[in-house]
Parts: sequence; C-alpha cells; structure tokens
Amino acid sequence: MILPTPVRLVRTPGRFTLDTATAVHADPAAEPAARLLRTLLAPATGLPLPPAADGSVRLALDPAVRGAEGYRLSVTPEGVRLAASAPAGLLAGVQALRQLLPPEALSDRPVAGVPWTLPGVEITDRPRHPWRGLMVDVARHFQPLDLLLRTVDRLALHRLNVLHLHLTDDQGWRLPVDAYPRLTEIGSRRARSMIGRAGSGRFDDQPHGGAYTKDELRTLVAYAAERGVTVVPEVEMPGHSRAALAAYPHLGNRPERRLDVWTEWGVCDTVLGVHDEVLEFCRTILGETLDLFPSPYIHVGGDECPVTEWENSATALARAAELGLGAPKELHGWFLAQIGAYLLDAGRRPVCWAEDSNSAALPTAFVVMPWQDGDHGLAAARRGHDVVMTPHRSTYLDYPQSSHPDEPLGQAGAVVDLVTVHAHEAAPGHWTGAEADRVLGTQAQLWTEFVRTPEHFDHLAFPRLCALADRAWNPASDWATDFLPALAHHAPRLAALGIQHRTGAEAGVTAAVR
Ligand code: ACM
Repeated sequence: MILPTPVRLVRTPGRFTLDTATAVHADPAAEPAARLLRTLLAPATGLPLPPAADGSVRLALDPAVRGAEGYRLSVTPEGVRLAASAPAGLLAGVQALRQLLPPEALSDRPVAGVPWTLPGVEITDRPRHPWRGLMVDVARHFQPLDLLLRTVDRLALHRLNVLHLHLTDDQGWRLPVDAYPRLTEIGSRRARSMIGRAGSGRFDDQPHGGAYTKDELRTLVAYAAERGVTVVPEVEMPGHSRAALAAYPHLGNRPERRLDVWTEWGVCDTVLGVHDEVLEFCRTILGETLDLFPSPYIHVGGDECPVTEWENSATALARAAELGLGAPKELHGWFLAQIGAYLLDAGRRPVCWAEDSNSAALPTAFVVMPWQDGDHGLAAARRGHDVVMTPHRSTYLDYPQSSHPDEPLGQAGAVVDLVTVHAHEAAPGHWTGAEADRVLGTQAQLWTEFVRTPEHFDHLAFPRLCALADRAWNPASDWATDFLPALAHHAPRLAALGIQHRTGAEAGVTAAVR
C-alpha cells in the first residue's frame, strides 16, 4: 500500500523484478524522471538501469492521463509502464514506483539479498490540490542546507510539492542580500535564545546564528525542481522584522534606537517604518529574492504587525494622512499592496498570512494563508482570494502531537494529533463549488522556536506530515480503512530513511480511532 492513498489502485496478477539486466526506455520529455528513478534507487539497490530502446521499464508522456501531476503506473510480468501528461506527473509516478518496492529500497546504503520485486498493479492517480506543502521556519533556529535537501526528498516521497521557507524573522535573517550585507552580517546572529515558551524570562546564553549563501539556495532550488518541489521563499514584512532593524535601524520608526536581534519568542512590537526608503529596501531585497527563486509565488509575511510604533511616529502619521487613511493601522494593507504591486509587475503572485485584521484591505491578487481560523479562509475566498489553508489547530506541527508525558515542549493551548491533521480538509464540504475552487491546497507549518536538533525536527514532522500529504492528495482517503493501513506499510519506509518517529499508538492513534 502506498502513501498518499492513490485515487485508484488495482492489484493485478504476477510481479516484476528489477535486476542488473533491467533497462529503461524514456521519451526525451521523460528523461528527468528516468534520471530521478536511477538517482533514488542507486544507493540501496546499486542497479544501473541503463537506457535502452527496448527497456522493460518505460516512461512516457501521454496527454490522455488526467491532471498536471496525475500519472498512470502499471506493473505486469513483462515490465513497468509509467505515463503522465506532464513531467511533474512522471516525477510523482517515480515516487509511487519506489514505494511499491521493498522498503529497504529507500535506504541510503547498499542492501544485499533483497529481490527488488514490484507487485502487479494498475494505478491511476492524481492530486486533488495543486499546492501541498511544508513550511519550514529557518529563522527561529537556523536549519542547515543538508537538512533542507533531506526535507525535499521526504516531501517528494509523499508527493508534497511545495517547500515554503520562512527565511526572516525577529530572531534571525537567513537570506543573503548583496545590496544590504548587514542583514546577514548582523541580522543572522543573536546573542542568546529564550528557554521555554514566550515570556519565560529565561535564556540559554548561547549565541545562535546561520545564513545561507546564494549558491546554497540555488543548489536547494535546483535539487527541489528535479524532484517536482517548488521552493517558495518568505521575507517577512512589515512586522517580524527586528533582525533587519538590528542591521539597519534607520528603516524603523525610531531611527536613533539601536536594537539587538531579538532573543525572545512571541510577537515583537518593533516593525518597519513606512517611509519611501523602507519600500525601496523591501523591493531591492525582493528583487534579489526573485533572482534566486523561480517560484511563481513569493511570500511576504504580513502577519502579527502591531501598530503602536506607527501610532507614535510623526512620519507614519503623516504618511497615513497624506494617503487619506482613516487610522495608522490601515498602513498595513497599504504597505502590503505596494509590495504586492511590485511582485505582480515582476510576474509573480504575492502570498501573505491572513488574519482578520489584515486581509480585508488586501488586493485580491494576493494568495492568502489563513492561519488562525479556517473560517478566515472562507471569508478570503468569498472576497476573491486564492487560498492555501493553514489553520493552526490542524496544520501547525509546533503543537504537541499528543499529551504523552515524553512529548517535548511545544506551543501551549492545543494538541495537534495525527487524526486531527488527517481530518483537515483544505476545501471543506460545506463550502460552495466557487469557494472551494479558490483553494489551491494546504501545507503543514514547522515553526522552530523549540527545534534545536534534526531529531526534534523529524519527531514533529513524522508521521503527521504523512497524514497531511494523504489528505491533501486524496480527500477521499478514509482514516481507518485507507490511511492507517497505509501508514503501517509506510513505517518501515520511514525507518529505512532513518526517520525517528512515533508509532501510531504513541502518537495517540488508538485513542483517536474511537
Ligand atoms: C503565524 O503563525 N503568525 C503565521
């Protein structure tokens, strides 16, 4: 059983075994998928899978297969046939093929003595939603390139196709910008970090830092593209920008004030100013961001922007008056609209987090991510926004996954368990067809205030990400009869990848089945 649950899978008689004699025939447009198949299978199987016109593994484009990421995969005693109407579907089909093999095929070390046998199947599959992703917060705790590359591999295995990188925040700036080198020289390092939750008042007194090079980000983007994953960058503005203000204080609302890169968690009330130089700064940063990330979507944050500094700044008040705005808080929507216009001119779609307080003023060209409440997504869809559903009570992986006593510290106030993640419908059944059509998809959020090790990262991501992937791909997947059995088959694959994760019972599954 493969995961995510395919739309249609029928077992057929017989099987086919890949061995050293097996060759691959790929149409020119299917070459990238053939390369990915070889790359993925080589470490464990050592199989060369050379190209040959009469290869028994055949990869081809076929316009009759439905959906941009849809694929058709058949395994018979004669061989393997994978078809899709577009290259992305072939990449998805390669991942499905990999899952049909014994789980040892996913190991990154040579495995001896396992026959690489595929069961006879006929699979016709396609995703319900075009945006299925994971947001990784690399600002609160820097996550090195090797972890991100590994994350891309794991997303692709689960047919998740977006890695949203939260690159900047109050506590760290990780994005290299040639025009503003102090952003990483100063903004990527903080003196210490809060221990425990926001407001604890306790600190570890250990400096923390890290930033990517442009070459690292280019490597990540290319690696992800080969696996059908788009990297969507996020540069936070106008709030969550204290690290930028530590580097360039004149872009704030009190230019004379010196700020440190924030060492606490929570919402910081220092925000960008609204003078022309700030908008130029943001456009310049985004210009360099567009050069690095070909993603059609660029995220500009927009959440949790306290307006007390604007209310107390003569410059901001003058700006609001000159624009005819009723109150300084309206500068928020105005600010995002300026930035959105810049991105649209550059041929990209702006994306921002949506809260009640900001979404009403946003131009409808913005894609929004409602993070507080799913109903904000419905309101946004009715206003004409495309929506990626990110409600915190079902997609935030920084909440504990159970009330198990060994569960590491997570955000307070909720448990986001496996059944809750699986129950999350990106386009809920009570929305109208037109509202549901506004839903691009959904993604999980891995905020990293408490995440200091790769083991903790894996613990938060798995198996909840499997549940999100299953449901986002195929909303008809049933928790008890589809997902849980598929997860049981999937656990040895996660183990072969070296992923430490809770078993179903530890993750509260038995209690949740009810
Ligand atoms: C958010 O959780 N502030 C997007």
